[in-house]
Amino acid sequence: MIDAETVARLDTQAQQILRANDRGGYTVPTKGLYPFQWNWDSALTTLGIACFDADRAWQEIEKLLSAQWDNGMVPHIVFWQHEEGYFPGPSEWQSERTPPTSGITQPPVAATVVRQLTNFLPGDHRTRVTPMLRALDRWHQWFADARDPDGIGVVAIMHPWESGRDNLPDWDAPLAQVDTSNVRAFMRRDTQLVNAAERPLNHDYDHYMALVQFGRDCQWDVKTIAEKCPFWVAEPGMNAILRRAERDLVALALHFNLPDIATRANTRLARLDHGFNQLWSDIAQGYTTLDLRKNKIEHRLSSGSWLSLYGGPENDIRAKIHYSTLMEWRQKVRFTMPSFAPGDPAFDDIRYWRGPVWAMINWMIATGLAEHGRPDLADQLADDTAALIEQSAFREYFSPVTGKGGGGKDFSWTAAMWLYWASPNTRQQTETH
Ligand code: DGY
Repeated sequence: MIDAETVARLDTQAQQILRANDRGGYTVPTKGLYPFQWNWDSALTTLGIACFDADRAWQEIEKLLSAQWDNGMVPHIVFWQHEEGYFPGPSEWQSERTPPTSGITQPPVAATVVRQLTNFLPGDHRTRVTPMLRALDRWHQWFADARDPDGIGVVAIMHPWESGRDNLPDWDAPLAQVDTSNVRAFMRRDTQLVNAAERPLNHDYDHYMALVQFGRDCQWDVKTIAEKCPFWVAEPGMNAILRRAERDLVALALHFNLPDIATRANTRLARLDHGFNQLWSDIAQGYTTLDLRKNKIEHRLSSGSWLSLYGGPENDIRAKIHYSTLMEWRQKVRFTMPSFAPGDPAFDDIRYWRGPVWAMINWMIATGLAEHGRPDLADQLADDTAALIEQSAFREYFSPVTGKGGGGKDFSWTAAMWLYWASPNTRQQTETH
């Protein structure tokens, strides 16, 4: 149990972080390491902002969607202002847009966030939300057209950064197929700001940059990417998040009486719900990554595997398998949910996405668990998240073994998840409502 004084102090600190990371209409994930608007960071951060400033929360989503490409994609980074301290910057992506953006997307959590805000914030919201739903519909349609052009029911990513779980061991084998011989010399900035032991290896960055070069060389043409990009994998995190987003978009479209959007979203959702089964691994007993170039399924679980419960209704047999695996993982680490299978040789408790716990992934998993009738397990995730924040403050992520914080400090989405979900004060309010 965290004492009331500490809770009050953390509530105040979380708000201070969100205000300090506000750059006027958008929030940076953290000062220095990530100095622009990042797609899913920004959307999830909105939930925290909504706890103290409703108007500013809506602005965050509006600003993100205002950077939507003509083809519907909402980019993963929007470079609203010039800043030398980040690599790869606009000149590497060459998006030919104003403001410049990256050329890839990120997990589409925005529709889910809009639904949460619509339920959470008082008022009618129709005028404000309708243009957002139009933009979200176009973005989701882009996923269907650009990232699943053959209609197999799972969307692919063309870069590890599209998954948002940038450095997952799942990417090692598919990345090994990417030729890095033409990658120009470059200077990383992240390892000047954060301990290199917590960041991806240079070898990984060579591969990341080869894929950026591939996209840039074809001017981010989605047809060329789908046909020829050497990295083309479907993974459970992105697919579960998109399923959830489509479900939330259907609900919002019905609520605001936009039947055309509801019909399109429902059609896409049916295809995704059906297709998700392709990511099941009998050996791993869970959903894993499918390398679509080699038609090869990964046999190790990651935090993305747990998002199936957040993506939509799971059948009883598989849901029970998830719960018993969760018990096993809890025996292996002190804090759930590790981002990669604990005990696997590739597990690293403090290196970016190879083991650490992320607060916002915990919120998503907990949401899925609660919706499957397991509030007890959902509460454990909230307790673990709160304990990590109490021990190590608002870090980007945490070691599931020691609770030590890693990556960036004063991190927006960690602060947001505290305010919106993990803080004992918030939980009390949710129970009273
Ligand atoms: C980074 O720079 O590590 C970002 O996560 C890429 O999106």
